[in-house]
Amino acid sequence: MKLFLLLLLASSSTTCTVQAATQQDDDVVFRWTSTGGGWRAMFAGMGFANLFQQAGLMDDDHTHFSAISTNSGASWFSTQAFYSTEFYTKTVMAPSPADLKFFAEEWMIAYLSVAKELEEYDICDITDFLGGSNMTEEQPAAEPGPLLTVFAEFCNMLMDYDGDWTAFIDDMMASAALVYGDTTFPTRIANGDNRIAPLRGTDLLVQSALLANARIRANNMTTGMDTTVNIGNRNEQLYTLTLSAAYTVNDTFAGFQYNTLDSNDDGMLMTYAQSTYPEHAFTDFEDYHLYPPASNAEILQPQTPQEQPAQEFAAPFGGAATVVQVAAVSSAAVGPFSPAGPSTFTQALSKMRVALEDDFLTKSIFDRAANRLYASPLLDKFAVCTQWPNPCSETDGLMIDGGLVDNAAIPINIAQYHLTAQNPLDKTLKIVVTNTNEAGSWDSDRMNAQLLQYFNTSLNQGVPPGDYIWFDALPLPFRSPQIFQDSMDMDTLNALLEPIDGSDMTTAVLQVTTTDNPAFGIQAGQAVEILLINLNAPITTFIVGKTIVEQMITPVADMVHDIAANEELLARIKAFFGFPPTQDTSNQTPPPANDTTTTATVNGMPNNNGLQSTSAAATTNAVGWSVVAVTMMMVQALASSL
Ligand SMILES: *[C@@H]1O[C@H](CO)[C@@H](O)[C@H](O)[C@H]1NC(C)=O
Ligand SMILES: *[C@@H]1O[C@H](CO)[C@@H](O)[C@H](O)[C@H]1NC(C)=O
Ligand SMILES: *[C@@H]1O[C@H](CO)[C@@H](O)[C@H](O)[C@H]1NC(C)=O
Ligand SMILES: *[C@@H]1O[C@H](CO)[C@@H](O)[C@H](O)[C@H]1NC(C)=O
Ligand SMILES: *[C@@H]1O[C@H](CO)[C@@H](O)[C@H](O)[C@H]1NC(C)=O
Repeated sequence: MKLFLLLLLASSSTTCTVQAATQQDDDVVFRWTSTGGGWRAMFAGMGFANLFQQAGLMDDDHTHFSAISTNSGASWFSTQAFYSTEFYTKTVMAPSPADLKFFAEEWMIAYLSVAKELEEYDICDITDFLGGSNMTEEQPAAEPGPLLTVFAEFCNMLMDYDGDWTAFIDDMMASAALVYGDTTFPTRIANGDNRIAPLRGTDLLVQSALLANARIRANNMTTGMDTTVNIGNRNEQLYTLTLSAAYTVNDTFAGFQYNTLDSNDDGMLMTYAQSTYPEHAFTDFEDYHLYPPASNAEILQPQTPQEQPAQEFAAPFGGAATVVQVAAVSSAAVGPFSPAGPSTFTQALSKMRVALEDDFLTKSIFDRAANRLYASPLLDKFAVCTQWPNPCSETDGLMIDGGLVDNAAIPINIAQYHLTAQNPLDKTLKIVVTNTNEAGSWDSDRMNAQLLQYFNTSLNQGVPPGDYIWFDALPLPFRSPQIFQDSMDMDTLNALLEPIDGSDMTTAVLQVTTTDNPAFGIQAGQAVEILLINLNAPITTFIVGKTIVEQMITPVADMVHDIAANEELLARIKAFFGFPPTQDTSNQTPPPANDTTTTATVNGMPNNNGLQSTSAAATTNAVGWSVVAVTMMMVQALASSL
């Protein structure tokens, strides 16, 4: 059966390749970048890739993309696609949208088995607390609702994995791998040689973020002090904000690259260790420009006398990161709340502190809660130690979801082109950007910031590309990723959008030119054409815990199907890349989907009433204050779509 399928695919796609190759202009470079968006982004990646295959951009022999960059959930797609032939065959090369839908259902059911094994932890039952506690006079009695159930299940999940995000991703990938019979791929080294045959000519770029510092708890036996490991450059200066970390794979290199090229000629980061008190105080972090930051906030601060001499930052994961490690660092969305990353944790909290001041908790209560959180190692592994599963040492750091520095992963993609191509400006870059956003998020402040940040826009006036910037709508400060000289605002972008009849998706074509951003290694003057595809799918970002997973099996599978079956989008993709609209060898009669099997399984599951949970049994327990703080942060993190 499998062999038959492969033969079928091989014969059908050879024609595509020939036709496509003849159509590709040598003066044009094709690229794909994708935003994160949790499981929605991963499944959307399957649908889009299948469409690209139908368009002649990808086949079972090679792809026309010289690089693919992804963030977060989309990196779960890319890492599976680059390192598992079986996954690639069942998604990119799926012979019909119905087959792809069937695979998506299977993936979700396998994933459900991970969710099902979870215990329920008291600390995670916050229904009563939010519904009726009397912490402060002004506290509004929040309605227990879907978000609380999601929170509880997400919390249970993390507790079950000892708060270890990577351990969870490891389990998720392992269970999915069973579905397509490639059980060893999650532990495969994510290097150039291990890329599957069709992707050997395509660079892989995975967006992640490196925290400015990491602390090792109470490792001084004599004093009980922590050691904080600061990331700096060779000039005895320390970074004050979260850096872009791009996991990069090509023919000759596999490893991380950072947006520090302006201050690190050789790309080498240094670490400066320092003894620090285990207590938390916002006032200790003034050099890190807490929210709202000063307008002249600095990227680097001088090393202080207490810091030990510089050591070279150790290659993450021993210089041989596995698929799971790469997938985990890119997607650690709650990473900013890891108290193991002192300045990032404080920056993230400082924003909430400003917002909550007149509202939910007083500053002093909030500060106490922050200190309680800081004292507990419970959430440390929300951020991923660069030597996971080993503990961090004085030459290591912490990584978190790339969406905290750049959700659409466009700068790292163009940067890699500029760093490696000869005379890059002589060619035009054609980039398809799949914005895997949730329905309703378009035109939100967060979305506006995430897209407009690349342009000259009202939000970044007076901030040179690469300088410190903190967009009000985003949780952390980072280095301004402005890479285009063109002016842009949402009205302009909205005017370019074209809807697709019968679909939530919209597209826009933009023609822009790069500006210098030396932190990333981007040069001015590059002609770039962008096909922006907005997904607008009514599917939540955090599909974690059995309630939501069960509910989402069918919507997710339908979404994948509808992307891959969208003829109008296919036509726009072909038109953008200059492929002939007539060619359609892959358009075979779709075999009937085996929906019956899957549906039966789904229907066999208990119908969910959990969403309207009214459990009142729990009371605010001994860890009350921590729970408040964690809750606020989790709810906020959940509510924002990375
Ligand atoms: C509510 O307030 C009362 C009086 O201040 C206090 O005794 C009680 O412990 C509080 N309950 C909770 C759940 O915090
Ligand atoms: C522990 O702290 C003491 C006092 O500051 C210092 O002399 C010693 O070097 C520290 N030990 C380690 C292992 O950092
Ligand atoms: C691979 O990427 C590295 C890092 O950007 C670069 O130094 C090297 O030249 C690239 N190799 C090729 C073959 O493009
Ligand atoms: C942005 O546009 C304004 C107005 O055209 C111009 O003065 C400014 O130099 C531009 N800034 C950047 C960084 O491109
Ligand atoms: C699809 O369903 C038919 C009928 O139930 C069954 O014979 C066949 O084996 C199934 N195919 C797959 C791929 O599951």
